[in-house]
Amino acid sequence: MHILTLGHDVLREKAEEVSQIDGKTVHLVKEMIQTMHEGRGIGLAATQVGILERIFVVHLAEDIPRVFINPVLKGVSPETSLYEEGCLSIPGIYADVKRPEMISIDALDERGKPFHLDADGLLARVIQHELDHLNGVLFIDHLSELKRKRIIRTWEQKFKA
Ligand code: NI
Repeated sequence: MHILTLGHDVLREKAEEVSQIDGKTVHLVKEMIQTMHEGRGIGLAATQVGILERIFVVHLAEDIPRVFINPVLKGVSPETSLYEEGCLSIPGIYADVKRPEMISIDALDERGKPFHLDADGLLARVIQHELDHLNGVLFIDHLSELKRKRIIRTWEQKFKA
């Protein structure tokens, strides 16, 4: 699968709920996990491969690959943390992003089974980052306008020269 990068309009669109989880979904999830591994990423949203469905995958070191379909954020902690993020859709760009430290989320797995997850630390962060993708939001949107503009300029110089 091909990962879309900054500048593609699809990355700015809101993904649709998955209405039916079937063999196609299982196949898509498998391909997404493979694409995430090939890109050495720890998370990937369907939006990033041009599919506007509410699906993302997360795979942290020492953890199992996790699949989230139709995820719904149920709560976030008032405590926040700052951590350097990157994105397979904005390769080579990293910036500190402030996010809630803990979250709780409901979703379906690739078999359509509902689950609930309370997460903190890096897992909570990646989940929030991927959930943003499903709403057309990129991590640079959490930065100040000045920082974001600087990043976009750096990006354009790097890739559109
Ligand atoms: Ni990303």
